[in-house]
Amino acid sequence: MTRIAAVSGSRSADSTTRAALRVALDAAADAGADTDLIDLAAADLPLYHPEEDAQGDSEELKRRVREADGVLAGTPVYRGSYSSTFKNFHDFCGSDEYANTAVGLLATAGGGSYGGTLEHLRSTFRNVHAWTVPHEVGIQGASSKVETVAASPDGEPRITDEDLRGRTERLGRVVVEHAERMRE
Ligand SMILES: Cc1cc2nc3c(=O)[nH]c(=O)nc-3n(C[C@H](O)[C@H](O)[C@H](O)COP(=O)(O)O)c2cc1C
Repeated sequence: MTRIAAVSGSRSADSTTRAALRVALDAAADAGADTDLIDLAAADLPLYHPEEDAQGDSEELKRRVREADGVLAGTPVYRGSYSSTFKNFHDFCGSDEYANTAVGLLATAGGGSYGGTLEHLRSTFRNVHAWTVPHEVGIQGASSKVETVAASPDGEPRITDEDLRGRTERLGRVVVEHAERMRE
């Protein structure tokens, strides 16, 4: 079965990024994939050190990425780029983890600007030989459009904006489609 992992690069306890990724991951599951959420807020991942082979949960997290056929990469916009939490995870994982992996990109912004963040993700994923899909999702004013686990009446995260919800679900499906093609 095709396996899709989502990596959430926010350390917020009630993260809009994680909530939006869950929407994409649910769409991937509906498309028939096995899914896995890697929540970096819950991981023990010290700052990458080039002279240390393994630190904290790094080996387990790398294995989960290696085993995935597709990855949904999500980050909050921080200073016009992606978060240091995501960058730290990025430094642990290389082409051993990402070669032949389809990757879909998602960014949540407080304001309106996510273009640089998605471009930075795209260029750094190229560097680890991942296949980023052309479809991508940027969410402006995320706190008013994403209902997080704590905000949702039934504890199920949602995207309240219909167009954005559709784009996010499509991201999940597109990553499954590309991951399946790459397995053939
Ligand atoms: C350190 C920091 C830097 C930020 N920089 C930006 C920014 O450059 N542009 C923007 O639109 N929002 C910025 N934000 C807002 C976050 O992108 C926004 O709140 C995001 O949805 C948070 O995601 P989360 O709920 O998953 O943590 C920043 C927030 C923080 C904490």
